Amino acid sequence: MLLLWCITTLLGVAEEERPVVFTPTEQRRILQHSPVPEPPDDPTNAWDLDPDAANLGQALFYDAGFSRNGQISCASCHGPMIAWTDGIPISTGMGPGKRHSQSLLNVAHNRWFFWDGRADTLWSQAMHPVEDPAEFDGSRVDYVRRIHEDPAYREAYESVFGDLPSMADTERFPPGTRSGTPEWTAMTEADRDHVDRVFVNCSKAIAAFERELRSVDSPFDRFVEGLREGDREKMTALNSSEQRGLQLFIGDAGCRQCHSGPLFTDFEFHNIGIPTGHGGPPRDPGRFGGIEFVQSSSFSSHGEHSDEPNGRKARRTGSIVQGQEHWGSFKTPSLRNVARTAPYMHQGQFEDLGTVLRFYNTLEDMQVQDHHQESVLQPLDLTEQQLADLEAFLRSLDSPLPPRSLMGPVDPRTGLPPPRPETGPPTPSESENQP
Ligand code: HEC
Ligand code: HEC
Repeated sequence: MLLLWCITTLLGVAEEERPVVFTPTEQRRILQHSPVPEPPDDPTNAWDLDPDAANLGQALFYDAGFSRNGQISCASCHGPMIAWTDGIPISTGMGPGKRHSQSLLNVAHNRWFFWDGRADTLWSQAMHPVEDPAEFDGSRVDYVRRIHEDPAYREAYESVFGDLPSMADTERFPPGTRSGTPEWTAMTEADRDHVDRVFVNCSKAIAAFERELRSVDSPFDRFVEGLREGDREKMTALNSSEQRGLQLFIGDAGCRQCHSGPLFTDFEFHNIGIPTGHGGPPRDPGRFGGIEFVQSSSFSSHGEHSDEPNGRKARRTGSIVQGQEHWGSFKTPSLRNVARTAPYMHQGQFEDLGTVLRFYNTLEDMQVQDHHQESVLQPLDLTEQQLADLEAFLRSLDSPLPPRSLMGPVDPRTGLPPPRPETGPPTPSESENQP
């Protein structure tokens, strides 16, 4: 009995600590996943790299004053401490939403925005929450009036985008007016254009801020650096279990077919048959609806508010052909910092990483639709140990908290944080491990 115990224990230890040997092909694949490069420039946003625009954008991001009850800001559903998400299955602002909040880390790398890709630029995405009844439930006329009337916003805006003509006349600019309403249509075209222009510029400022939300220096990145330099010491940033999980991820488990590259996503859309849940719509068309929206929106990359309406982005948006295969497909999420972004999937259907991995392992409860179904997925039949290794690897994609300077509202004029931040200030101990 004792002998048996000794043997199994020794075998267990041996399995636990046996160094993982990566083949040249595996090494080549691993190197493709780190480091995270600089995000590409966005030529549709001329203020993409402007630091003053980013300061204004940061102030707007944390400001709850644009929502109907004055309590919801972008940060309400994209909190910096949990990788810019909200931690609940279906986001709720002024009303119940339909989908799960997405992480904003590395968001400037995306080609498409939202789970269904219904926005093709980061700035046009930022316009959506303002008039959405489930989010701010506000109006663009009120939004733009506040930029005119608040001295700090006015000064910050004018220093970046130029003069703001008066909006004091409430006959011309009726309070509470949203686009698409009879009150909106009754405004003159020039007045509508003015409101849209300022609204778009503020959204471009928010995009400039979001560009700064990046994940850096995870244990996985240190491991890859070690692999690249042949530095065994650095490679101990991942323990044996995490290394075995990595080997599965890029190998037998097939994850890299979709979660590939430094952001662990192909930036495309797939229908992997996640069952619906948590009060979201029972049949969500996903990308199918997103294509229709982005092609018809006048705020897309090909529209008049784009700073490059004939560029590559605009051509790409114009060239997609909507087909049945898009039905029910959703954007492959990045897996960077995934340990912080629970629950998972477009309706937050899975509460933890273990549940996600059990789904991929058995494909039990997979929702097979009458339309196209992704055929790459096969049940993996991994052992409990292999599932634990895979999960340990996913957890190694965690990077330190963002720098304090991004974590709260700033004075839009100076970019300096206020003396006593009001929104989720990090405590000193929480922000010690910052880059
Ligand atoms: C009520 C919660 C809520 C608020 C408020 C909110 N968001 Fe979101 N955000 C979401 C949800 C939910 C999604 C995914 C929605 C979808 O796919 O239909 C999302 C998606 C996004 C995305 C797309 C990310 C990607 O990878 O495609 C960005 C960017 C974003 N939000 C930024 C913002 C900004 C900027 C604001 C403020 C102007 C904001 N959000 C306000 C919940 C919210
Ligand atoms: C065919 C492409 C594809 C493959 C292969 C694939 N995934 Fe995914 N993954 C997706 C898509 C698409 C989603 C979002 C689905 C949705 O919400 O409906 C997703 C979601 C996830 C999520 C949730 C992330 C979040 O923020 O919500 C995790 C974790 C994940 N995948 C891990 C894995 C792992 C581990 C493997 C390998 C075992 C794998 N994936 C294989 C496409 C794929």
